[in-house]
Amino acid sequence: MLSDRIDAPLIGSLPELKVVANYAVGVDNIDLDAARARGVPVGNTPGVLTETTADLAFALILACARGLPAAEADVRAGRWTTWSPEGWLGRDVHGATLGIVGAGAIGSAVARRAEGFGMEVLLNGRAPGPGRVGLEELLERSDFVSLHAPLSEETRGLIGEDELRAMKRTAILVNTARGPLVDPRALRRALARGWIAAAGLDVTDPEPIPADDPLLLAPNLIVLPHIGSATHATREAMASLAVDNLLAGLAGEPMPHSVA
Ligand code: DGY
Repeated sequence: MLSDRIDAPLIGSLPELKVVANYAVGVDNIDLDAARARGVPVGNTPGVLTETTADLAFALILACARGLPAAEADVRAGRWTTWSPEGWLGRDVHGATLGIVGAGAIGSAVARRAEGFGMEVLLNGRAPGPGRVGLEELLERSDFVSLHAPLSEETRGLIGEDELRAMKRTAILVNTARGPLVDPRALRRALARGWIAAAGLDVTDPEPIPADDPLLLAPNLIVLPHIGSATHATREAMASLAVDNLLAGLAGEPMPHSVA
């Protein structure tokens, strides 16, 4: 699982190791160089979770924009005493600008949803293509910034203090990729000091985030327990693909999806 660290010492301590089948598309938990050096094939589960994860990214965009958890909590706590013109005001998603960092399969699936909402979409990724802008321009222009880059040494801490300060004070940051893409201390300051309006996280650093982590004190934050791919159908499809990878690797055949 993505929570299992398959590093060089572990690989070195398993002389009989024949194959690694990750139950995830992200493989940042695995030392691919060490696996390659040992000739151990590594499989992952791309494709089957793309749309499900994009759904959750959009759910976070909508929930943050309209402050759904706080509004719901007020109803349950009896604080909804009257309809009021200024009660529970949020931000429009339709017509807003969405910046997508990491224009791979999941980022593109989020972009398709955004088009249905009449949003302007800015993309930032390694490959050139239509709608691509630099990260700085994306951060400055976007009302919502959604992260979909894989975690690597290059992307670790991609969103730190400078990047958060570059965003609009009304902007919302959503991360459904990997927690360490965002510097958690900088995010805490950004939420407390109003550099950005809110954040929606399905992934954190560390993960799980301890219940007493000071980041959780921010009222303008929604945090979920890494459930981007958590639907019955998608988790079953991921399991099937991971097993197919495993069986192919054990049989010495090419895996349906291998990364090393
Ligand atoms: C993955 O597959 O990498 C996802 O994070 C699991 O939800």
